[in-house]
Amino acid sequence: MTSQVSIETHQAWVEFPIFDAKSRSLKKAFLGKAGGAIGRNQSDVVVVEALRDINLALKEGDRVGLVGHNGAGKSTLLRLLSGIYEPSRGSARIRGRVAPVFDLGVGMDPEISGYENIIIRGLFLGQTRKQMLSKIEEIADFTELGEYLSMPLRTYSTGMRVRLAMGVVTSIDPEILLLDEGIGAVDAEFMKKARLRLQELVARSGILVFASHSNEFLAQLCDSALWIDHGQIRLRGGIEEVVRAYEGPEAGNHVATVLRELGAERPAHGEKSDERELERNPT
Ligand SMILES: Nc1ncnc2c1ncn2[C@@H]1O[C@H](COP(=O)(O)OP(=O)(O)O)[C@@H](O)[C@H]1O
Ligand SMILES: [Mg+2]
Repeated sequence: MTSQVSIETHQAWVEFPIFDAKSRSLKKAFLGKAGGAIGRNQSDVVVVEALRDINLALKEGDRVGLVGHNGAGKSTLLRLLSGIYEPSRGSARIRGRVAPVFDLGVGMDPEISGYENIIIRGLFLGQTRKQMLSKIEEIADFTELGEYLSMPLRTYSTGMRVRLAMGVVTSIDPEILLLDEGIGAVDAEFMKKARLRLQELVARSGILVFASHSNEFLAQLCDSALWIDHGQIRLRGGIEEVVRAYEGPEAGNHVATVLRELGAERPAHGEKSDERELERNPT
């Protein structure tokens, strides 16, 4: 079924034109620690160069973490990979059904019930109504929201909304799953419960790209990583290597520890061949 899920970008740039920039003061591009480079496009308009010269080839089974400072370009890259942004130069080709999980609350309607929001949010993430109807009871159980699911969403607390959103997000079957940071930002108690579901979600996704500031999370869900720096890929490699380069030895050691602890539970990189065997010999 999931034939040929892939993403390829070739020298892709994403630039945001800033028409009201005080252009004189921008003669010299200044690179602070945070934020993309500021330059000019062919029409001499000031632009934020959010992504520069991105070359990527992702295929079925890839689990890629994104690390980098605020403003480095992680969220922009996720939007490029989802097809929401077109490259301003170069190309991006996306094959597969994308589930963009950028904001847990997006696509939720405060005036309709929790049950109805489960369906709507699922549709937004590329599922069919039929698929969502078959999962609705299981999602409802997971959220532990009980009778509230029949009440309009506006009667929910923030935490209750997050439960609902996490229930839906972790129920889907995405070919390409793109997660932006927010997903880790729920209370620790609930996260414990959601963690297994999240790992199962990732396991049945074709491709995962996950931007996070939580190294623990990255180590649990990803096996490779990209360090995005001022809009460019500064380093790609194993998750430990990339975190070590970006954040230093202590963070690198922490990732190594998490990976070791997971080692017993999860197949190592090279053993992940089941899916690929199946692909080559579809039954
Ligand atoms: N809609 C936009 N308009 C102008 N600049 C933007 C826009 N979105 C992002 N940027 C800029 O692009 C750069 C990358 O931002 P972003 O991808 O959000 O970084 P990250 O997710 O790594 O924090 C930043 O310099 C940011 O200010
Ligand atoms: Mg971001």
